[in-house]
Amino acid sequence: MDKLVVHGGATLRGAINISGSKNASLPILAATLLTEGECIIRRVPDVSDTNYMVQILSALGSDVERSSGTVRISCADISDEAPYELVRRMRASICVMGPLLARKRRAVVSLPGGCVIGDRPVDLHLRGLEALGAKVEFEGGNIILTAPDGLRGAEIDLRGTHGPTVLGTDNVMMAATLAEGITVIESAAAEPEVLDLANFLNAMGAKIQGAGTRRIVIEGVKELKGVEHTVIPDRIEAGTFMAAAALAGEEVRLRRICREHMKAITEAIVKSGHRIDFNEAGDECVIHRNPETTGCDIVTAPYPGYPTDMQAQMTALLATTPGISVIKDTIFPQRFMHCSELKRMGADIKVDGGTAIVRGVAQLSAAPVMASDLRASAALVLAALKAKGSTEISRLYHIDRGYEHIDEKLLMLGANVERVKDR
Ligand code: EPU
Repeated sequence: MDKLVVHGGATLRGAINISGSKNASLPILAATLLTEGECIIRRVPDVSDTNYMVQILSALGSDVERSSGTVRISCADISDEAPYELVRRMRASICVMGPLLARKRRAVVSLPGGCVIGDRPVDLHLRGLEALGAKVEFEGGNIILTAPDGLRGAEIDLRGTHGPTVLGTDNVMMAATLAEGITVIESAAAEPEVLDLANFLNAMGAKIQGAGTRRIVIEGVKELKGVEHTVIPDRIEAGTFMAAAALAGEEVRLRRICREHMKAITEAIVKSGHRIDFNEAGDECVIHRNPETTGCDIVTAPYPGYPTDMQAQMTALLATTPGISVIKDTIFPQRFMHCSELKRMGADIKVDGGTAIVRGVAQLSAAPVMASDLRASAALVLAALKAKGSTEISRLYHIDRGYEHIDEKLLMLGANVERVKDR
């Protein structure tokens, strides 16, 4: 198991390219199951989550070739049962359910287990697929969906107690592309990753309107064809490096980003006192760190609100920002595991029922810390960049799930980090 050792105190400078979006790549890779034709997907980040998805597609019978950021997939002859051994490693594997059901009229996918960031049910996914005419059964830890006569369009409201569901919207949208008639998804997730998936599906021949808004209308078609697609930039990776630059940088430039997708993240960092200048095209920015900053309040919300996937990293930034900041996660109220580790580094944070109250301290200090999930580990890396001394972050596999070559990118910016093999 790898560890990351971060020797704090270096100033980050220079430029890096942001990778393609992990959370757009995963459902897009799954959507290739909807066609017999060959698809070529570009800018798929080389992270373990996309590798798991590629392995699941291979295990289902697809022919997959991967070289650097490009994945070539041909799903000519596939099975309808996703193997438990692979599915259990990644919750996002649930998004093969909609495509398998639509293409094979049967899908067997294991029920996702617990998750450190909170209880993550799939009731809304199943409610949507049931409304399209699927029969849902559970057996031996698996979800078995069947629709022997095919799926039929329906009106579906996908709102849950914590708002819309991203992968639930993806699953229902993918299944509806091959259903008979019209499907209307109300209270759909409007995240840019859902829109990227819809753009990919429309290029394949689907008829989807309204993706990127709360109401998506899908007119079913008989079949979809293979196409080429380039995945959108990863707004969370970009946000993480923005926060790193605000914490420990001096004129850090991020390339291959999308300004439009980053409004809430940019606003929060600017509100805490830093300056971010975008180029005219909105695909590059420079972060100017301001040493005279102030705390700010953040409430996570579905897009275009402030993303829960940037909550931990912002908590790390605010931990050394003077003043009191209040951070509330309305989407995953239990997603505060990083706070106990940040406190071991000297942060002053009180977590109470989905809210963290952060009192900025002048200096954090190094300590051995443990990553608990993907974004929590990113928060620990950020805190360590600024801390006094050398911080050892164990369970680095969490960060490798979603950040492409993070240690190399940090080295390029002048950080003093080393990946070491744990004994
Ligand atoms: N929910 C339900 N029932 C469902 C589905 C979701 O109650 O059937 C609840 C969840 O428990 C949560 C809320 O609805 O409270 C939103 O969850 P959502 O379904 O949107 O999450 P997801 O689609 O499983 C994606 C991202 C997550 C990100 C969330 C929220 C991917 C692969 N994953 O998950 O990303 O946190 O949306 O934006 O796109 C990450 O990248 O670190 C990550 C966890």
